[in-house]
Parts: sequence; structure tokens; C-alpha cells
Amino acid sequence: MMVRCIRVPRSEGEGIRRALMEDGLLDLDFRIGSDGDGILIPVRCDAYRGYAAEEADLRPSNRGETDYKALVDVPEELRELLPKSFDVVGDIALMKLEDALLPYRTAIGEALMKVTPNIRAVFLDGGVKGEFRIRDLEKVAGTGTSETIHVESGARMKTDPSKVYFNPRLATERERVASLVADGEVVIDMFAGVAPFGTVICRHARPSAVYSIDLNPECEYFMRENMRLNRIGNMECIIGDAEETVAGLPKADRIIMNLPQMADRFLASALRALKPSGTVHLYKIMERADLESFREETARRMADEGLPMRFVRESELKTYSPTMSVYAFDICPDGVSSF
Ligand SMILES: C[S@@+](CC[C@H](N)C(=O)[O-])C[C@H]1O[C@@H](n2cnc3c(N)ncnc32)[C@H](O)[C@@H]1O
Repeated sequence: MMVRCIRVPRSEGEGIRRALMEDGLLDLDFRIGSDGDGILIPVRCDAYRGYAAEEADLRPSNRGETDYKALVDVPEELRELLPKSFDVVGDIALMKLEDALLPYRTAIGEALMKVTPNIRAVFLDGGVKGEFRIRDLEKVAGTGTSETIHVESGARMKTDPSKVYFNPRLATERERVASLVADGEVVIDMFAGVAPFGTVICRHARPSAVYSIDLNPECEYFMRENMRLNRIGNMECIIGDAEETVAGLPKADRIIMNLPQMADRFLASALRALKPSGTVHLYKIMERADLESFREETARRMADEGLPMRFVRESELKTYSPTMSVYAFDICPDGVSSF
């Protein structure tokens, strides 16, 4: 079908596609085509960045069909195993598949791309591994690497789930924490990843300093890129062990502890690094039935260390398994102590 598009050199294609997307000028009803050395990008404008629009024959993007299952060719008996949802990070999709569907991973990835034109590539997600919580990814459809820019709460965040941890599902929680930050606060994120908490906080609040710490050396590049992309000047990126690092930092008004498998093991170090008027945001995966005993045990353990504290708020962020959930706890020092 003849549609309006711009012809750009292949080397500039990805950058211009992304910019068009952000400006709302990409015509999502049609797929990007190619022609010799050029890429044909369907647009909703007459010219873009010096490229005049022309007419070219491009394929429809199948936007009419919104369920990829209707387009994918797998044996009927496996159809019920097709995943119901996918994680989208920037312009890549991450999908988990049952073993029986693995031979059809390319067909599934391509079907998903057909119904979601803003997805550049689909990766098979082998799960999160190791202390850096990075993903084992295999590209099954599309182009490019797993490095991408995710837009969240108006902030642009460069990430690569195969090198660093990033969870797009925490956007609401990051906004909540950012909304609590008062002018001039000192904020420490002990397990920062690519610094999404710090980035959203710096964009939406006016802290005096944010210290983003992570053990994974790959995080430094992404943290610095995210500072650059969001014009942040008051964040310090620190690669190292959080427990050792916090002791040497200025006392904080707010400390974020997003290492949900075991952040509570570091709570004493966090409380020692916190001002008496400060708040810790601690994230923890646990059995729902253990919630009360976790609160009591944690408070007792901290009191024994001379660090009395209280839980001032808690919320269940998401279900982790049939019996477990991820919880967010806001914790404050309690009374006069050795803080
Ligand atoms: C669940 S991720 C959280 C990332 C980030 N807060 C987010 O929301 O995307 C936990 C991070 O803690 C880091 N980590 C693990 N042990 C650490 C330690 N002892 N000190 C500092 N960072 C650590 C991992 O590399 C990983 O990036």
C-alpha cells in the first residue's frame, strides 16, 4: 500500500525512528521498510529533520489484530501454553516460554512484533541470575541488541537487562518515593542498578544529593548515561558494596533498599547511615503468612543492636508466587538511640 514515509540512511534509522516515536509522528499503522541503503519510515508529517516525505509501498503493521495468539503458528495442543503477558522495556519485549514452545520461539516473537509496532526486538528471557540479578536473554525476532531506553515518569533510562537489573514494574513505587522527597534531602540508594529511583527523584524533586550504589561494575555506564540523558548534576554513582560504602557517606534523610531477596540483612547498616528524622524504604519478598513475624523479628533484631525502629507504612507491591509477595516497608528510627 502506498503510504507517506521518509527515506533515511540505515545508520540513522534507529535514532530517527525513536525520535519520531517520542514526537508522536511515527505512523504505527505501517511497518518500516528498506530500499537499498535507505530505510523507509512511515510518518505522520510532511518532513522530519530535513527529510522530505515521499510515497512508498509499505506493509500494514497488523495493528487491527491486537492479540499475537491469532497470528502465531503453533500446534493447536500447545496454544494454551502461549504466554498471556510480556515485559516491555523501552523498545524491546522480554518473553518467558514453556519448554514445549521453545521450537516456536521465533514465530512467537515475530507474531508479537506484528501486533506491537513500537517493539524493535523480542528476547527469550531465561530468568534473573546471580547477585547482579541480570537476565539470560536470547534474541528471537527483530533487530539490534538488548540495550534500550525506557521512558518512565518523564525520565529516560538507558538499560540493558542482559548486563544490569531493571524492573519496569516499579514505576508507581518510584513515583511514590520521589513524591516524599523534601527539598535539600540527602538520598542514598544502596542497590541502585541503573539508578531509576535516583533518576526519577532528581527529575521530580529537589534533593541536595543522591548517592546511587551498586556492586555490578556494568551499572556505572548506565547510571552516568541516565544522568546525562536527564541532565542530572546532583547524583553520585558509586560502584561497590553497599554495606561498606554507606558508612563513608553523609548521613541520609532517605535510604532506598531494593534488594528484595535479602535487603533486610543490610538494615542495621542503613539505619546507622540515616538521620534520626530519616526514612528507610525497604523491599522484601516473603511468604504472606510471615508478614507479622517478619515485622516483630526485625524490630527486635534492630533493638538488640541499639537501633530501635518502627514500621510506619507497608504495602504489597506485587505477587511473587502463590504464597509469596513483594512488600514495600517504610521504616523510621524510633526515639533517642545511637543513630
Ligand atoms: C533488585 S536490583 C535493584 C535495582 C534498582 N533499584 C531498580 O529498581 O531497578 C538489586 C541490585 O543490587 C545490586 N547488589 C547486589 N548486592 C549488592 C551489594 N552488596 N551492594 C550493592 N549492590 C548490590 C545488584 O547488582 C542489583 O543491581
